[in-house]
Amino acid sequence: MCSIIAYLGLSPAAPIIVKGLKRMEYRGYDSVGVATFSNNQILVRKGVGKVLEVNKIAKLDELSGTVGIGHTRWATHGGVTETNAHPHPSSAGEIAIVHNGIIQNHEELKKELQQKGYMFKSQTDSEVISNLLQYHYDKVKEIKKAVLATVSELKGDYAFAAVFEDGTLAAARLHEPLIIGIGKDGYFISSDVLGFVEHTDEVIYLDNKEFVIINNSGIKVFDFDAKPVQHKITKVSKEFADAYKGDYAHFTLKEISEQPATIPNASNSTRLELDLATDFVKHAKTLYITGSGTSYNAALIAKFLFSKYAKIKIEPIISSEVQFSPNMFEQQSILIALSQSGESADVLEAVKIAKDAGAKIISIVNMMTSSLVHLSSISIGLNCGPEIGVAATKSFTSQLTVLYKIVDKICGNCIGLDLNKVSESITKILSDHSGIQEIARKLKDISDIYVLGRGIHYPIASEASLKLKELTYIHAEGLPGGELKHGPLALMDSNTYVIMINPNDSTYSDTLTSAQEIKARGAKIIGISDKPSDVYDYWVEIPQVDESVYPIIEIVPVQLLAYYAALEKDTDPDYPRNLAKSVTVK
Ligand code: F6R
Repeated sequence: MCSIIAYLGLSPAAPIIVKGLKRMEYRGYDSVGVATFSNNQILVRKGVGKVLEVNKIAKLDELSGTVGIGHTRWATHGGVTETNAHPHPSSAGEIAIVHNGIIQNHEELKKELQQKGYMFKSQTDSEVISNLLQYHYDKVKEIKKAVLATVSELKGDYAFAAVFEDGTLAAARLHEPLIIGIGKDGYFISSDVLGFVEHTDEVIYLDNKEFVIINNSGIKVFDFDAKPVQHKITKVSKEFADAYKGDYAHFTLKEISEQPATIPNASNSTRLELDLATDFVKHAKTLYITGSGTSYNAALIAKFLFSKYAKIKIEPIISSEVQFSPNMFEQQSILIALSQSGESADVLEAVKIAKDAGAKIISIVNMMTSSLVHLSSISIGLNCGPEIGVAATKSFTSQLTVLYKIVDKICGNCIGLDLNKVSESITKILSDHSGIQEIARKLKDISDIYVLGRGIHYPIASEASLKLKELTYIHAEGLPGGELKHGPLALMDSNTYVIMINPNDSTYSDTLTSAQEIKARGAKIIGISDKPSDVYDYWVEIPQVDESVYPIIEIVPVQLLAYYAALEKDTDPDYPRNLAKSVTVK
């Protein structure tokens, strides 16, 4: 979603800011802008579109000055317009801000400020921050006091950065991430380490309810009670440097291709936590698992694994639905929260509800510096490196791997999980893309595709359809095989394509029967299986593996298919329209 970057140092700020915004593009956005402090005034340029497009027209990177702030906006309050794009100057133009999150009480604040003579141009909630800062600054003439007074009035979840007319930067956070980079010749503030990682790997993670003031004499951090805070400088992992595409055409392809390496790596940096989590799960009174989107599909897989191998009941629940199931959690409940980013607002909300009811939280998360980790009793790292492509790929198979590891531990190694074999099988699938590319060409002009699976393969069918939707914009639906005759069969005709997730296990013959029924209605069948069949118009071969681990490998060909179909349709696989990598608003 929205990204913040700010810089104060010896170099021209605008080019650094524009580059940082470009690097954070994966988070999803619709407009972009930069403000710098130069010659005792604040200069603002912004526009609608991608960073490079807007930069070409508005010359964002030519703004003068060595202090500045920048933003990519994903519209929530107010349409996608240049006026609504950030930065937002105060009506006097002496302060400009960029903001992530939502200011819940913006309407009341706006009214009060308008009555005091402050003017508003945009329809955003964010603009109240600049005018509120200006109002307090006009009164107290001190930045620290103005920030404190401002944050005491704002309600909602937010991170903002502000540039003042004397060239000072200030930034504050409440439930939205903000990270400070300490460079050799300057300071950075960003919502994402990727915003500045090429300049420095030394960072300070601001805690919730803290703010920072940076000027030429240095950096000071305070909490919302005005107390100074001392933070240790941490070194971010060099893995962030891997967040470049290298020789790959797209991040999505790179991340799909990394899976033979990322799967054996899952949870390796958090082995102790894995043991602890296993213990927690064994002793839970009631056990729940939650996530959104792809992470929820992984939660559905967990249900099958826990009941079949660990003989434990676990209830999956979509994170955004938790609020509608009051009294679900109790003391000694355990909630496992799955999230790549650790910043999905729906997941954080679900976790807060569970915690308030006395439940303990185990998170399985990729971004170990995220808000979710702070809210959890135990966090297990996916350890799969930055995932930049908006569609989750390698994080999904790493989530599955961690869940398999937990279950295998509980059942005394009854799965006998051999990750090297899993990894070799995926390498085989990835060794030749030509068959999948050929099928992708057929999908170019179709409007509907169904993915069918039974048992544990049904959540994989749902995940496969999510990938197809996101990357190709084709209507895709995951179906449980047994439900076909209860309705969906009416949709099957010669314009339809159906992917059958059909490994050679206990679901095989029933799924094959469904394929025959569908084929009889004229639909084209794509079979994903280790066993060929005449019923398939296209057979995507997967290696034969132990029955228990088919789900981890069978999703990979569909990830590739969705990627290549996106290329055929000329959509951008890394940044699907209307979507954001990290959905930090509800
Ligand atoms: C699907 C996708 C989204 C995310 C969802 C949860 O490809 O990327 O559905 O899975 O927004 O995100 P995290 O896992 O970061 O909480």
